[in-house]
Formats: sequence, structure tokens, C-alpha cells
Amino acid sequence: MKVGFIGFGELASTLANGLLTAGLEVYTCREGRSSRTKDLVNSTDVELCKSNYELVKTVEVVLSAVSPSQTVSVAREVGHVEGIYVDLNNVSPSTVQEALNHVGTSNTVDAAIMGSVRKKGLKVKIIASGGAADQFAQLNQYGMNIEVIGSKPGQASAIKMLRSAYTKGVSALLTESLYVAYKMGLDEEVLKYITQTEGPYFKESAVSRIKSSAYHAKRRSEEMEEVVAMIREETEPVMNQATLEFFGALAQKLEKPSQRPTSMAHVFRMLEESNNQG
Ligand SMILES: NC(=O)c1ccc[n+]([C@@H]2O[C@H](COP(=O)([O-])OP(=O)(O)OC[C@H]3O[C@@H](n4cnc5c(N)ncnc54)[C@H](OP(=O)(O)O)[C@@H]3O)[C@@H](O)[C@H]2O)c1
Repeated sequence: MKVGFIGFGELASTLANGLLTAGLEVYTCREGRSSRTKDLVNSTDVELCKSNYELVKTVEVVLSAVSPSQTVSVAREVGHVEGIYVDLNNVSPSTVQEALNHVGTSNTVDAAIMGSVRKKGLKVKIIASGGAADQFAQLNQYGMNIEVIGSKPGQASAIKMLRSAYTKGVSALLTESLYVAYKMGLDEEVLKYITQTEGPYFKESAVSRIKSSAYHAKRRSEEMEEVVAMIREETEPVMNQATLEFFGALAQKLEKPSQRPTSMAHVFRMLEESNNQG
């Protein structure tokens, strides 16, 4: 089976490497992409297409894994697709629906990543809904972990968005509160007392959330735009608006660190440097 990725960042390169190891032919297009993306492409054995348009004509399953803000424009760019088109981007149900309307109907899948791609690789849990979700789940034979949760596009993204509202909100709250604790020399004590409420694994997960919040601040702020848009369709987004503003400000302060921060203190030192400069 031939599988193609539009976008070749962290998500696509991780899944592509797993699928190549499982023996599939994997394609992408690196034309016009950044040096980071080109390096990721060049470090794998993926086949190259000259354009995304050529890519969708070549493969049976197209996976879109681009920056969330590009979800609709890449779908519009490729237009009608003969094969299966899977949208893996963290966007709201209405955005995914808008994107999928450009490429087809029964051949489309709304898919949402439900774990850490970096930790789980190809085995990361993916929930899927839409007309071709069952066909997409055939990739489980090659080591993927896809669970079909419904037949309508938008269902998978809605679950992901609402889970995201929770996890990113907690991460924002932790980063802000523990930064203040760090500045007061009380971070270990605060962690100790919250652990007494939250349970034995709290510290490990809090530190991991703070490190990845710093590293992925820009992406998280884009993802929160989608969450807020979705919440606004139903109610006033007060808490989620604050999370969005938090990640926007964090992204501006830290830019994209070239390497993942090594510890919670590392994140807070970077924040302190930025605050002192600004
Ligand atoms: N990584 C994860 O763990 C994870 C988990 C869940 C969901 N997701 C979702 O998956 C998507 C990709 O995430 P990621 O972490 O892989 O992001 P990433 O590392 O920032 O990669 C994004 C990729 O999309 C490319 N791209 C941007 N605009 C494009 C366009 N118009 N046409 C073609 N390619 C384009 C980028 O190329 P340039 O470098 O040239 O900009 C880059 O290769 C996002 O929507 C994200 O929300 C990711």
C-alpha cells in the first residue's frame, strides 16, 4: 500500500518511519518546505513527489499533518482526491469539516491523535470518524493503533478538542503557578503539597507538561485557537480564552527552543531571561 504525508514535521516523520519499517511505501513532498522539514525528509527513506497534487495522485491513503492553521488551505490546494484523505491536524470539528469538503465525502476521515507521538511512535492511539474511517483502520495491520469511534467527520475532533481544553488548561495553570513558586524558591514544596492531593505520579507528569508546554508553545497556541472557536459555538470561552492567551504569550517569550528543555528549572530560567530582557 502507498501512503503519503502532506507536511513532514514531528508527527508525519514519526508515523512515516514506523510505516516504512512495516514495509509500506511512503511518500511526501518537500518542495517549498523549511530546512527543518527537509532535514526530517532527508533522514528517512520516503519517496518524493514534486507537489502535493502529484502526491495525492500517487498514493492510496493521504495523511495531512501540517500546522493547524494550514489545514484548510492544503485541502483546498489538493482538491478532489480519489483515494482516502485523512486529516490528522488538531483543529475544531467545523474546520476539519471545511477541509474535508474540499477533497471528497465518503473517502474522508477525521482523525485525532490521543497520546504522545514522541513516546508511542506508530503505536500512538488515534481515534477516527467519517466515511472512510474503517478503511483507514486497515493500517492497524501495519502497526498503527486506530480506533473508529463514529461515522461522521467532526466527532473525533470534538473529543480531541475537549480533552485538549482540559490538558492544555492544566498545563498552563501549572506552568504559571510553578514559575512563581520557582521564583520564590518554593517549587519543590508546592509540588510536594499538590502531590499529596493529586497522587504519587503528579510530580513526574507536571514536570513533563511544563517542559513540553515550553517547547510546543506556538503549536499549542494555534491549537487553542481551534478549541476556543469550538467552545464559542456553544458558550462564552472564559477559561479556554485564558489558556489561549497564556500559550500565545509563552510562545512570544520563548520563541521555539532548538532543543527540548531538560528540566522544569531549565524552562523557568529561559522564562526569567526573557522577562529580564523584556
Ligand atoms: N506532534 C504531535 O505529537 C502531534 C500530536 C497531535 C496532533 N498533531 C497535529 O499534527 C499536525 C502536525 O504536527 P507536528 O507536530 O508534526 O507539527 P510540526 O512539527 O510543526 O510540522 C508541521 C509540518 O507541516 C508542514 N507544513 C506547514 N504548512 C504546510 C503547507 N502549506 N503545505 C505542506 N506542508 C506544510 C511544515 O513544514 P515547514 O517546516 O516548512 O513549515 C512541517 O513539516 C498539527 O496539526 C498538530 O496539531 C501533532
